[in-house]
Amino acid sequence: MLVNLIEDVQIEDKLSLEEAVRVALNEVIGAYAIVVIDRREPDKLVAARKGSPLVIGIGKGEFYVASDASPIIEYTKNVVYLNDEEFAVLNRNGQLDIKTLGNITKSPYIQKLEMDLEKIEKSGYEHFMLKEIYEQPQVILDCMRGRMNAEQGWIRLGGINEFASRINNAKRIIITACGTSWHSALLAEYLIEELARVPVEVEYASEFRYRNPIVNEKDVVIAISQSGETADTLAAIEIAKERQALIYGICNVIGSSIARASHAGSYTHAGPEIGVASTKAFTAQVTILTLLALQLAQSKGTVSMTRLRTILYEMELLPEKVRAALKTDSQIRDIAAKYKDAANFLYLGRGLNFPIALEGALKLKEISYIHAEGYPAAEMKHGPIALIDENMPVVFIATNASAHEKIVSNIQEVKARKGKIIAIVNEGDTVIRGLADEVIEVPETDEILSPLVSIVPLQLLSYHIALMRGCNVDQPRNWQKSVTVE
Ligand code: M6R
Repeated sequence: MLVNLIEDVQIEDKLSLEEAVRVALNEVIGAYAIVVIDRREPDKLVAARKGSPLVIGIGKGEFYVASDASPIIEYTKNVVYLNDEEFAVLNRNGQLDIKTLGNITKSPYIQKLEMDLEKIEKSGYEHFMLKEIYEQPQVILDCMRGRMNAEQGWIRLGGINEFASRINNAKRIIITACGTSWHSALLAEYLIEELARVPVEVEYASEFRYRNPIVNEKDVVIAISQSGETADTLAAIEIAKERQALIYGICNVIGSSIARASHAGSYTHAGPEIGVASTKAFTAQVTILTLLALQLAQSKGTVSMTRLRTILYEMELLPEKVRAALKTDSQIRDIAAKYKDAANFLYLGRGLNFPIALEGALKLKEISYIHAEGYPAAEMKHGPIALIDENMPVVFIATNASAHEKIVSNIQEVKARKGKIIAIVNEGDTVIRGLADEVIEVPETDEILSPLVSIVPLQLLSYHIALMRGCNVDQPRNWQKSVTVE
């Protein structure tokens, strides 16, 4: 036990608490974020971190210590983020001292938090998750603001400009992330390869970090993380950095470990996301990744100005279209009531709607505890089709016009086996209306933007089903918001 080691060192070497912590931590391996107090020295706390996040809030005559800034914001906006292998001594007299484990004194770098309390309260919504789903039109707007202009036909992600030549000449882009952020990465693969014609590989950070990956200075590694503190993603970044790749971080939390570990990057401007199930952070990531793919395509000359402008104009309409998709809420509540007792769900989509199928399934299982799987619709015939009977609800994400005919035939295959079909379609899709048990219409947009609209009903479906099953929507069992351990 770490605490025993600290005490042993303190007694045997006759050291002060902070010295004992420093000496002990030099002997341990692995990740930690700790706060230590000694009953014989009650006027000081020693806080230290390595691999796990730790932030110190500085109030009036008081300090706060937490793993991220959200619980501190209510009391103070002044914070100090400890770096790896640093420790802080918080004295009751208000003095704050920071040192490295190598015993080098550092001056505390005090940052001002930009989030405000109102933004992390529920503003009249029953749950944070619902509030965050409804914030998406604004979030998409905030992510685009100042970064693109449809009329003039430009996109400017500040982070890219700084390393333009390395990014434009990358032989390959590797995208690494976990969970929902990994689903954004999959979407980015479709977007970047389609628009900018650069090969993209998508890697689970937890696999990438342990499989001795081939990465070099010609690669750009994009790391996506809402919290910016996910241990696996941080470790993947370190490996890619050691191998000289350029790291581009896409994070939501300003000043987070991943943001700081990256050479360049873009913040997602989604505001604090409190619900454990990621919603608005996902749409923010996809908005930024779409801009990134477009900026890259423009620099490489792989997209015409006419096509670029068409997409950018459509992006400007996105907040309105997402708002319209939110109007399906009461219809989805009725659908949820019908299917809430199902034991399994299947989510199917093709092309860009395949990652959306994965994300829809993850949203359902993580908060309602219903087993759900996402598949590319055409994979169904390679096995999952055996699962389909009259008790299996199958959610089809069928908003991409180019795959319409094929998805219709997948729907027919499910119907022939008496599966229950819930279809997300573009407004006016009479063909699928004639086949499906439930049809949820969303506004049509450019196909490459359709995931940003079609994810909304899936988020609402999981929310309502979880609520009806009596689950804790904002804080599902067994896990937490930031996965800062392996
Ligand atoms: O903070 P991150 O985006 O790095 O978190 C990664 C996953 O833990 C996260 O996306 C998780 O899957 C979602 N909260 C699920 O909704």
